[in-house]
Amino acid sequence: MSVTVSSPADDTPLLRVSSVSKSYGARTGCEDVSFELWPGEVLAVVGESGSGKTTLLNCISSRLMPTSGTVSYRMRDHTWRELYRMSEAERRFLMRTDWGFVHQNPADGLRMTVSAGANVGERLMAVGDRHYGNIRSTAIDWLGRVEIGADRIDDEPRAFSGGMRQRLQIARNLVTSPRLVFMDEPTGGLDVSVQARLLDLLRGLVADLGLAAIVVTHDLAVARLLSHRMMVMKDGRVIETGLTDRVLDDPREAYTQLLVSSILQV
Ligand SMILES: Nc1ncnc2c1ncn2[C@@H]1O[C@H](COP(=O)(O)OP(=O)(O)OP(=O)(O)O)[C@@H](O)[C@H]1O
Ligand SMILES: [Mg+2]
Repeated sequence: MSVTVSSPADDTPLLRVSSVSKSYGARTGCEDVSFELWPGEVLAVVGESGSGKTTLLNCISSRLMPTSGTVSYRMRDHTWRELYRMSEAERRFLMRTDWGFVHQNPADGLRMTVSAGANVGERLMAVGDRHYGNIRSTAIDWLGRVEIGADRIDDEPRAFSGGMRQRLQIARNLVTSPRLVFMDEPTGGLDVSVQARLLDLLRGLVADLGLAAIVVTHDLAVARLLSHRMMVMKDGRVIETGLTDRVLDDPREAYTQLLVSSILQV
């Protein structure tokens, strides 16, 4: 297996996506997508329903093998690894430790029949923590950071509200100090009032932890609040990319202009 070593400088990307395409038989999921993501950078992927956002996110987070193209990740030891050349076990380890994945539906990212504390603690055990007291106190700390009271630690997530479940899913993902988090419509299933608080919380955590993140959303307000940079997708392709404020305030492509103006009319 070939491994290239990069300099550990902070101006080195964390993730390199090159010409990723995924087709489902004759149907295009995403096509020829390339970009780089830097440490601490939050990238929003926007576009209408069916434009290929989830397909792309799954391809670059090792959940769905692309039809062609490559995804490379800079590991903590600064070696570059190609995602789909790793073994299944290595990829799974990466997902459990250095990466997070926040699903739109919290039930997909939580174990609904074990306690909130165990949901958070499990991820710590995956990185080798075996000390029950440490695990429990870190879990309590993280529940607090996502505004879940310590008295709920032994409750199962199915006894939580939608917003609480989503906050628990976030705690479960962030407890191992991942460097990169993927999120697919993280506020999608929630009430507007709950969305606003969750977004505030997410924005604070991402900034505090210096996390890199890729956030899929069809909600431009989410992109505005969370992201530094945006990619606009249409029919599986990236049609516009740029700093978030630039894309939203001065969209260049006619399609992006339509997207922005239709949201403004809501
Ligand atoms: N498992 C699948 N089998 C066949 N076609 C699929 C599959 N998943 C997605 N597609 C197709 O790929 C295209 C992109 O779908 P995708 O789910 O990536 O869009 P999206 O931008 O995430 O949409 P949404 O905002 O509705 O979640 C669509 O045409 C969709 O029908
Ligand atoms: Mg989707």
